[in-house]
Amino acid sequence: MTDTATQVDQDALPEGPELESYDAKIKQEHIIGQWTMEPLLDAAVGGPKPRGVGHVWPWSLTRERLGEASKVLGPRGIGRCSIVFLNPGITQGPPGSTHTLAAGVQVMRAQEVCWSHRHTMSALRFIIEGNSDAFTVVDGEPLTMNKFDLLLTPRMAWHDHHNPTDSEVVWLDVLDLGLTLSLNQAFFEPFGDASQPQRPTNADSQGLRSRLLRPVGENPRSTRLPIRYAWADIEPVLDEYADTAGDAYDGLALRYANPVTGGPTMPTMDCWIQQLVPGFEGKLHRRTTSSVGFVISGKGSIEIEGKTHELVPGDTFAVPNYAWHRLSNGSDEPLRLFTVHDLPVIQSLGLLYEEPEATIGTRPAPAVPGIPQKQTYRVDAMLDRDEVR
Ligand SMILES: [Fe+2]
Repeated sequence: MTDTATQVDQDALPEGPELESYDAKIKQEHIIGQWTMEPLLDAAVGGPKPRGVGHVWPWSLTRERLGEASKVLGPRGIGRCSIVFLNPGITQGPPGSTHTLAAGVQVMRAQEVCWSHRHTMSALRFIIEGNSDAFTVVDGEPLTMNKFDLLLTPRMAWHDHHNPTDSEVVWLDVLDLGLTLSLNQAFFEPFGDASQPQRPTNADSQGLRSRLLRPVGENPRSTRLPIRYAWADIEPVLDEYADTAGDAYDGLALRYANPVTGGPTMPTMDCWIQQLVPGFEGKLHRRTTSSVGFVISGKGSIEIEGKTHELVPGDTFAVPNYAWHRLSNGSDEPLRLFTVHDLPVIQSLGLLYEEPEATIGTRPAPAVPGIPQKQTYRVDAMLDRDEVR
C-alpha cells in the first residue's frame, strides 16, 4: 500500500522564493542544483540539435578570394596564404566548417616554401591544383602533390610544403580543429628552420612507416602515418566501380583506409571517396557525425535540413551533425566527392547513431568488379561473413 503522504510528485517543478534564494546562495559558492539544469535535458529530448547549418562554399567564389588573399598578404603571407570556411550557423566556440572540422583552401605560390611546424590538430590535404614537382614533407618523407592526391599530416608530425615550380599549387585543408580546441588539447611548435631534414627520394604512395615489408621485431605503428593516397591509384578503382550504385544513402562510398588497420584514415577523421551513378537519388538520413565534402567531378545536389544546394566541381560543403540530408545526381555523368567525417571519434565513444537505420559497418563488402559470379560450389559458405557477395 502506497503512503500518499510521502509520495514525491515527479511533475512538480521546484519554484518559489525560498528556492530562488537558495539557488542564489549556493551559486556564490560555485555550486548549482541539478534542478536548474532541467532545460539542458529537455533540449536533448529527440537527440542533439545540429550544430551549425548546411552550407556550400562555391568554387568560383573560393578561388577568387584565395587569389585576393595572395595579393593582399604579398610576400608576408609565405606559408599562411590560407582561408578557412566558417559555418554561418556556428557563432560560438572554435571557428570551423562544422563543430569539429575546419575546411579551407591554401595556395602555395611559385618558388614558395611553407615553413616547418607541427601541432596536435591532425590535418589532411586534398590537392586541387597540383604539380609533380611540388611536395609536402611529413616527418622527413617527401610526398608529391599531384592533382587530387590525398596527403596526411597526422597530429604532431613535422610538415613543410615546397613549391619549386613557377605555377601555383592549391589544396583543400581539413583539420580536426573544433574537436581539438574544444577538448583544450592544442599544442603548436615551429621547427625553427623553414625546412626539416628530408629523405633524398620521395616516399611514393606510402611512407616508410607503412610499407608492405616491416621489421619483424617492431610494435606495428598504426597511427601518425605520413601517407600519400595517389589519385593515380584511386581513379582506376572508381572507374572499375563505374556501374556500382552502392549504398542507398551514400552511393558508392570507399574509405581511404589506414594501411595497417584497414580502418579509419586517422583517429579523428575518416576520408571517403563517394561516387554517385547518373540518376542516383540518395535516401534521406542523418547521423550523429558531421562532415565536409569537396566536389571532384560531376554535378549534383545535396539537400540538408530541407534546403537543396547545387554542387559543381570545386565546391566545398558542410553537413552538421545529426542533420537530415541526401545526395542526388541528376546528371548523366558520375558525381565524385571527397568527404571527411568525424566518424572515428563519435564511433569510438559509442555515440554513433543513424536514422532511419544503421549503415556504418553493417554492410557486406561490395562485389569486386570482374570477379565471375557463376559458381560451382556454394562459395559463400566458405567466406567470412563480411565477404558474402
Ligand atoms: Fe600545419
